[in-house]
Amino acid sequence: VVDIRKLYSQTGMFTYDPGFLSTASCQSSITFIDGEKGRLLYRGYPIEQLATQCDFLDVCYLLLKGELPNVGQRDEFHKLVISHTMVHEQMQFFMRGFRRDAHPMAVLTGLIGALSAFYHDSTDIHNAEHREIAAIRLISKLPTLVAMAYKYGVGQPYMYPRNDLSYAGNFLRMMFGVPSADYQVNPVIERAMDRIFILHADHEQNASTSTVRLCGSSGTNPFAAIAAGVACLWGPAHGGANEACLNMLENIQANGGIAKVGEFMEQVKDKNSGVKLMGFGHRVYKNYDPRAKLMQETCNEVLAELGLEKDPLFALAKQVEKIALEDDYFVQRKLYPNVDFYSGIVQRAIGIPVKLFTGIFTLARTVGWIAQLNEMISDPEYKIGRPRQLYVGAPERKVTPIGER
Ligand code: ACO
Repeated sequence: VVDIRKLYSQTGMFTYDPGFLSTASCQSSITFIDGEKGRLLYRGYPIEQLATQCDFLDVCYLLLKGELPNVGQRDEFHKLVISHTMVHEQMQFFMRGFRRDAHPMAVLTGLIGALSAFYHDSTDIHNAEHREIAAIRLISKLPTLVAMAYKYGVGQPYMYPRNDLSYAGNFLRMMFGVPSADYQVNPVIERAMDRIFILHADHEQNASTSTVRLCGSSGTNPFAAIAAGVACLWGPAHGGANEACLNMLENIQANGGIAKVGEFMEQVKDKNSGVKLMGFGHRVYKNYDPRAKLMQETCNEVLAELGLEKDPLFALAKQVEKIALEDDYFVQRKLYPNVDFYSGIVQRAIGIPVKLFTGIFTLARTVGWIAQLNEMISDPEYKIGRPRQLYVGAPERKVTPIGER
């Protein structure tokens, strides 16, 4: 590892690295990925252990504070989070400004940015107390906002949060409950939702996290920095891949189903087709994404619980994976399923509309973004993010008067 800042101050030399293939933008002690081995650790704990032995709020505590909570800390943290789940009533009017068919990510980018207009006591990014309360507010209110975006889109009344439920259970009720009937949380679905949240909670310096850091480095407020991350996550090469992946599987299903998978894979391998296998490949993982394995397990559990074991999209996905794992094109390029490959099938089975998939990802990733933002701002050496460029445009020249151009 070369500390290029020293080299720059001594020689004026800087690196050219579009896409940041070989540039570390920061030091971090939050998340570790070993891409070659397919390992993912949050604060040193393997994702497999966290996903099976902790709940999402434990993981939030871990990401924010560096350690897993003990019983007392857990209780206190849960109480703190549930005391902030309501959103300001004015948010409903803000929501009404959107068309009903607006994409939930467009709505969420707006709503999350707008939180800074409601909570003035948590907008100073350089004030640790402000950052702490902004963190709690964001983690608490995201399920409420995501469910509001859904309910608004389908024209149903909003459900207020119920704080005697778990974080995931409360979210499911706000999504699928209606005021006129009691909503019973299914524990298998609740656990699956919680696992989806855990698996998406952080992933070191990906595009949206780097966006949050860069945006926050100017000293803007935490809500604005997170809204910038939401906008970045929306793209199909990043968080939008789960939506794109499910659309891809449905497309194959509609055009001949499992019998046509081989033909589709040939299309993917043809560089001129412009078709990518969504939910496959990763900048850092050159092995199986450990989150994809856990997500596949969850997929089995949820489909069995809902009597959907014969779901044709799941069979299709497994066939795609089988072909890819044996095909030279994918093997040589080390392309494996990523977290998005199976998450769409699970969410669809739960009843979450495809358009909301990236919204669920946003909900879960918010804690990672805040933890990364806190880490950056607390670093005494932190500076505003300001990449250099390699200028390749015209040399200095004179403006020709308009009549002579
Ligand atoms: N389908 C087909 N070919 C692929 C795919 C894919 N999904 N991903 C990479 N490749 C090929 C590239 O064409 C390239 O081939 P080449 O060497 O012959 O030119 C090679 O594999 C290397 O790929 P790059 O694009 O250089 O890899 P990069 O690290 O820049 O991209 C990315 C990573 C964006 C994730 C890419 O694999 C992709 O677009 N995947 C599909 C979208 C997706 O699933 N995104 C979710 C990522 S995980 C997340 O954000 C939660």
